[in-house]
Amino acid sequence: MSDQPEEPHRHYVDGEWTAGESEETFVSQNPATGETLGEFYQGTPADVERAVSAAEGAYEEWRAMSYIDRAEVLWDVYHELRDRTDELGEIVTRECGKEISEGRADVVEAAHMVEWAAGNARHPHGDVVPSEIAAKDAYMRRKPRGVVGCITPWNFPVAIPFWHMAVALVEGNTVVWKPAEQTPWCGQIVAEMMVDAGVPDGVFNVVQGFGDAGNAIVEDERVSTILFTGSAEVGHKIDEKLGGVPGRDAALEMGGKNGIVITANADLDIAVHSAVMSSFKTTGQRCVSSERLIVHTDVYDEFKERFVDLAEDVAVGDPLDEDTFMGPLIENPHRVKVEEYADLAREEGVNVLVDRTDLDADEIPDGHEDGHWVGPFVYEADPDADLRCTHEEVFGPHVGLLEYDGDIERAVEIHNDTQYGLAGAVVSEDYREINYYRDHAEVGLAYGNLPCIGAEVQLPFGGVKKSGKGSPSAREVIEAVTERTAWTLNNSKDIQMAQGLSADIKTEED
Ligand code: UN1
Repeated sequence: MSDQPEEPHRHYVDGEWTAGESEETFVSQNPATGETLGEFYQGTPADVERAVSAAEGAYEEWRAMSYIDRAEVLWDVYHELRDRTDELGEIVTRECGKEISEGRADVVEAAHMVEWAAGNARHPHGDVVPSEIAAKDAYMRRKPRGVVGCITPWNFPVAIPFWHMAVALVEGNTVVWKPAEQTPWCGQIVAEMMVDAGVPDGVFNVVQGFGDAGNAIVEDERVSTILFTGSAEVGHKIDEKLGGVPGRDAALEMGGKNGIVITANADLDIAVHSAVMSSFKTTGQRCVSSERLIVHTDVYDEFKERFVDLAEDVAVGDPLDEDTFMGPLIENPHRVKVEEYADLAREEGVNVLVDRTDLDADEIPDGHEDGHWVGPFVYEADPDADLRCTHEEVFGPHVGLLEYDGDIERAVEIHNDTQYGLAGAVVSEDYREINYYRDHAEVGLAYGNLPCIGAEVQLPFGGVKKSGKGSPSAREVIEAVTERTAWTLNNSKDIQMAQGLSADIKTEED
């Protein structure tokens, strides 16, 4: 797709680019400028219905291929992601507003995921398991689950689609994908890559559009598995719909209200660096971004001074400029939400330390007046107060400093006092504190002396509590898109049972 693409762009269903059944279209906009980037047909439930039929129809043939043949398609995608990293990284930045090193890292993370999935095709896919009976061979094997529905967010518009789809496809599932409505251009490019790589008709389908299209994927009983990464609100609705439905399952990764514990034994250079990265990178719009900094009273004043100084200065600006640290928020309604949370924090009586919510005109780069700009909002609050601002996810550069006194147990108690549990970190030079945090923090991703962002694809990625269920992400997605079969073969002519169970058939005559 060029800068001035032919309009509008189509869905990809059953091996064909199609306008779908509605004439209605929507546009993608650059969040830093408001510039229109492309126009896209808006998918309907009927388009989803066709896509699911195509995926269902293609399933038997695709699953009958060898793992390695299926992976060949993905290797082509891998090479294209590598060859076009800079170009695609810039497109990510233009469409979702992340600064350019983040745009690039999104594409690199996608390549890593595809590499993991395709490479895994040559790795063992089960275990040989001993049996109580010497003549029995027992194995665990994996089977694909069928049609997998993928619903992905805008903040990692290339990486997260591949978190969902790369393993799903290599394992022999077919896919119906709805990209986020904010980043359809990235969706279009990913779809073009799949097509260029020669994925067979019906194996991969994409329907662009909004929540009604996503909901149609969720409601279609032919879709065995939903992989969803996005808001807790939508994720929990999916869970309510699918929970308990036989044969259907969902793996969900939602947001967080992630915290970093900075103990009395912290190296403050590491603490400040980790906190700034975790709170402001991606303008706070990662599921793993940190909005709670739990800081020991002995180091509180120094940490606060250093963190506040940087929050006052951190470079907000054109995300294409290498010197920018924070780009814009994704869209205006989100900017309004982030502003409302700043208002709420004030109403809840916190002590505001940095308020760059409403940036000065001279902080906004020329030609970017229509961007969705905010800067950091930092405050201090009572860790024991039942405040919405310190417990609800804002998904922006909105950070509360929570001062504590006491030991690591107390810090972790504050840390865990949220309904979420995705990511978190501890900063300390004391290994006992680090290990206590490791063992008791209620999170899926935990870090020591690091920011709580930046996970690598070869680790599991997922949350506990309100943050998730199953894992639609990274290597652990293999559990969501396959069923494990326990297979046992008898090498003897006799039937012998485990647990000492008698295999004798007794008759009236015995
Ligand atoms: C997200 O937070 O929305 O761990 C995904 C990270 C990235 C993925 C983040 N690898 O920060």
